[in-house]
Amino acid sequence: MNAPLPHRDSTRLAIIGLGYVGLPLAVAFGRQRPTLGFDINPARVSELQRHEDQTLEVTPDQLRAAAGLAFTADPERLSDCNVFIVTVPTPIDAYKRPDLTPLESASRTAGRALKRGDVVVYESTVYPGATEEVCVPILERESGLVFNRDFHVGYSPERINPGDREHRLETITKVTSGSSPAAADFVDALYKSIITAGTHQASSIRVAEGAKVIENIQRDVNIALVNELALLFDRLGMDTQEVLAAAGTKWNFLPFRPGLVGGHCIGVDPYYLTHKAQQVGFHTDVILAGRRTNDGMGPHVARRVVRLIQQREAHPAHCRVLVLGLAFKENCPDLRNTRVVDVVEELRAYGADVDVHDPWVDADQAMHEYGLRLVDAPEAGDYDAIILAVAHDRFVSLGASGLRRWGREGATLFDVKGVLPRADVDGRL
Ligand SMILES: NC(=O)c1ccc[n+]([C@@H]2O[C@H](COP(=O)([O-])OP(=O)(O)OC[C@H]3O[C@@H](n4cnc5c(N)ncnc54)[C@H](O)[C@@H]3O)[C@@H](O)[C@H]2O)c1
Repeated sequence: MNAPLPHRDSTRLAIIGLGYVGLPLAVAFGRQRPTLGFDINPARVSELQRHEDQTLEVTPDQLRAAAGLAFTADPERLSDCNVFIVTVPTPIDAYKRPDLTPLESASRTAGRALKRGDVVVYESTVYPGATEEVCVPILERESGLVFNRDFHVGYSPERINPGDREHRLETITKVTSGSSPAAADFVDALYKSIITAGTHQASSIRVAEGAKVIENIQRDVNIALVNELALLFDRLGMDTQEVLAAAGTKWNFLPFRPGLVGGHCIGVDPYYLTHKAQQVGFHTDVILAGRRTNDGMGPHVARRVVRLIQQREAHPAHCRVLVLGLAFKENCPDLRNTRVVDVVEELRAYGADVDVHDPWVDADQAMHEYGLRLVDAPEAGDYDAIILAVAHDRFVSLGASGLRRWGREGATLFDVKGVLPRADVDGRL
């Protein structure tokens, strides 16, 4: 007989991986039921036990208010739980192939704690099939239990947007799925208890996996189109933003903007699907073309700034450039896969002396991840060019004249994000 699913009132949750996705989820569940947050990083666990969150997604008050929530780095404590939600990273390796090491390791951890009737739900972004082809065999091996008879599995992708105060976990419709109709209903009810926006129950785990990965691919490809247009309009001596503003007056013109595409989602997830496509001998031309275009935007920004410097009859090798912003997006400290580093690298290849300033970002992390020493307080009047790379509010609120204070007389101001008036800057994407 199939093992019965946990009863709603006897659900003891564990969240495995307490990052941008896992922590808000742990807090939401911890407000209403016993929830154990587990992470392999003891420093992360200690900081959360002190009610501090360095990702800034959750406030100390919200952490305190989650009365049912406890944190641990000890996997032994997971055996008290009966529902495990896995929210560990799914990065790519140096060859842009899915690196499933964290997911496999978290599955081993969950597998060792698994008992008859338990449920494991995956939230990490993967390709269709990964949960059942990669994770389930590990769960079976570690637990000695049989899938869909002794234990159940679900998949519910996360859609949060770090730094976004409007679209929060609770206010975004959640896609849910399960390995059997009963498991799907269980997973759906579990999330309905915290998601005020409601849920969408997908017909299978693979459908839910596919839905998540294509959400990000759709954005990536659309941004790539606009980036390609930006490269072309630059050659034609036209301002891309002006063209987009004009085209945007049509009701069905999509409002994508050119820019650097960084972060651990949009620039990474497409490779999960293209990997799966390769496995079945399918060539994903459009998706990979989009990736290529987007990955070329950092060097393009640097070359445009160099051109502007040369037009002033200066030589980039004798110039000091200030890059404002290193995080992969505005108003958040997340550095993962930031493509601002491509701008810096290309400028340095021209011999420019480049400083990077980002008050949101942890300086040690910038050094550790990218070997970049952040400048805490750039000197006023010191730079030949200033690049607004990330539109943090505190940069944008200075306006062009405030930003120009860091520059020498006649310094170049380049606006990667197109947030300043055209007339106040020397160039923009
Ligand atoms: N951050 C986002 O905006 C976002 C949005 C939607 C989906 N996702 C997806 O969610 C997943 C998690 O992303 P994230 O941004 O929260 O990652 P993250 O890097 O912020 O956090 C992951 C946490 O997992 C921990 N961890 C790693 N391996 C572990 C293991 N074996 N056992 C326990 N803990 C482990 C790490 O120490 C870290 O604290 C990824 O698949 C990502 O693509 C992220």
